[in-house]
Amino acid sequence: MCGIVGYTGRGQAAPRLLAGLSRLAYRGYDSAGLALCGEEGLFTLRAEGKLEALCNRVGDPNTLPQSVGIAHTRWATHGAPTEQNAHPHTAFAGDVAVVHNGIIENHRALRAELECRGICFSSDTDTEVVPHLLSLALAAHRDPLAAILEVTRRLEGAYALAILFRAYPHQIWAVRRQSPLAVAVGEDGCYLASDMPALAGLCSSVMFPAEGDIVCLTPTGLSLFDREGAPVTRPSLPVPATAQEVEKGEWSTFMEKELCEAPLGVARTTDALLRKDLPSLRLGAVRELCFLGCGSAWHVGVLGKYLFEEHLGLPVQVEPASEMRYRRVPLSAHALGVAISQSGETADTLAAARKLKELGLPLLGIVNVDGSALTRESDALLPTLAGPELAVATTKAYCAQVAALLVLLAKTAQAKGEEALAKEVRAALSTLPREMEETLALAPEIQAHATELAAATHAFYLGRGTDYAAVMEGALKLKEISYIHAQAYPAGELKHGTISLVEEGTPVVACLTQPRLTGKTLSGVEEVRSRGARPLLLVTGETEVSPQTGKVLRLPSSSPLTAPLLGALAMARLALDTCLTRGTDPDRPRNLAKSVTVE
Ligand code: F6R
Repeated sequence: MCGIVGYTGRGQAAPRLLAGLSRLAYRGYDSAGLALCGEEGLFTLRAEGKLEALCNRVGDPNTLPQSVGIAHTRWATHGAPTEQNAHPHTAFAGDVAVVHNGIIENHRALRAELECRGICFSSDTDTEVVPHLLSLALAAHRDPLAAILEVTRRLEGAYALAILFRAYPHQIWAVRRQSPLAVAVGEDGCYLASDMPALAGLCSSVMFPAEGDIVCLTPTGLSLFDREGAPVTRPSLPVPATAQEVEKGEWSTFMEKELCEAPLGVARTTDALLRKDLPSLRLGAVRELCFLGCGSAWHVGVLGKYLFEEHLGLPVQVEPASEMRYRRVPLSAHALGVAISQSGETADTLAAARKLKELGLPLLGIVNVDGSALTRESDALLPTLAGPELAVATTKAYCAQVAALLVLLAKTAQAKGEEALAKEVRAALSTLPREMEETLALAPEIQAHATELAAATHAFYLGRGTDYAAVMEGALKLKEISYIHAQAYPAGELKHGTISLVEEGTPVVACLTQPRLTGKTLSGVEEVRSRGARPLLLVTGETEVSPQTGKVLRLPSSSPLTAPLLGALAMARLALDTCLTRGTDPDRPRNLAKSVTVE
């Protein structure tokens, strides 16, 4: 989604803003721009396409003396990804510049009203109403805080806004509602950003404004006001990421770096979470669960459904949060809601989580980004400690989410007196990081399979039970980054229709990590093989498979509780190598954004 950076201080703004934007580029964007403010006035530079285009327009940023500025990477929602629609947007009077993350839902009515007053618009965006309104309000109140209060009372939707007023050339103003924003005091001035990587290495602590808060940043410090304009303070948190964690370093892609960091993320998450108590959730009394998340996080919930139903006999509801938020969810008063999210800012997940809270259910958040909206809205947290994830396709955060889910299974088992299960899960988790390392060491073998897969236009992924949850994730990875259409199917369901698509040479990836289901899944594989498919079988440990059935990728031995994660990890590596073989960019796949903060 869109990225926002702002700086006011003793140094030059342009180089700092461009460095911040490049740290946010991973989120996905299709145009970029910046506004600088100084004694000589306010000016903007914008460009369609990659950040390089904006850099070319700026020239040498060190020659620009201004020490105050705001900048933006835009992922188009309202209006095409053109220079005209790129942020910052300025007011008709040229006295206000604004960058925005989110959607102003009532922009049409506001635009019509402004046009009636004779104001001409220069873009198709929902954002442009904001600088015009601010300009009018500033003329009336002659005070930035009063102007922002008046305008935000009229805005509907989600926004994080950073604002420059020409009349206040050393200040940046910001306001947020339902969109992320962090502000911080660094050694050389004050910063704001929509996402933590932009702040890593620049300051040691950060503040997250609450819903509706307004912030004024000056070169020497910052002040916060609540939605009524009264001064407030908010707690400071340590900046969670170091500069190294958000740089690619020696790696050629973030996705490869992050895949290799996955075992460490799982080890850190498991160690920390097994020691954490969740007394407020009264896990012993929980009688059903509801998992919600989007994309890969939803797949973790699907895995959770199989695990909690199979091992604890607890009924589980799971659905993409985008569906859950709009349907009636019949849950008892003894249900526990579990929201899973890497970013903690996904709009659909937050909306579905709020819905569960309205039903009176306690909400547990499994979240990777400290300080994100979901961490604030959850009643209890199992934070994943995967570290900052910058590749658009999730890998290490997905793995850490699975680890957190297994910790929750162990804790629930313990609370319900199922000591043997709790012990089994803990034992499985203790060897998991090593088994993940061994899985990653299969890279040369996986590369050979990727070379074959790269020539395909579509592929099937098969599994049963928890392996079905794993292949859902494996197929998503392939689609996202290599642009090969891949469909995950329950192995027994294929023959009820989809098998008609199988033809000579169709690649079929089957995950077989569950000994009790191996024979059954193999029958499904035989059905497609006899119709010309080219199966690749991911098996764990000693599982025997006849060489005629297909090519075999042998994963390390692992408990059936954790083995599907090894399958998902191998499939993520397979997707990465397929993508690199095809020459597509795994870190920034087309049309995708890292964190989907709009509906
Ligand atoms: C897939 C992927 C997405 C996210 C989804 C939810 O590789 O990254 O499917 O899992 O957009 O994002 P979070 O976890 O931030 O809520």
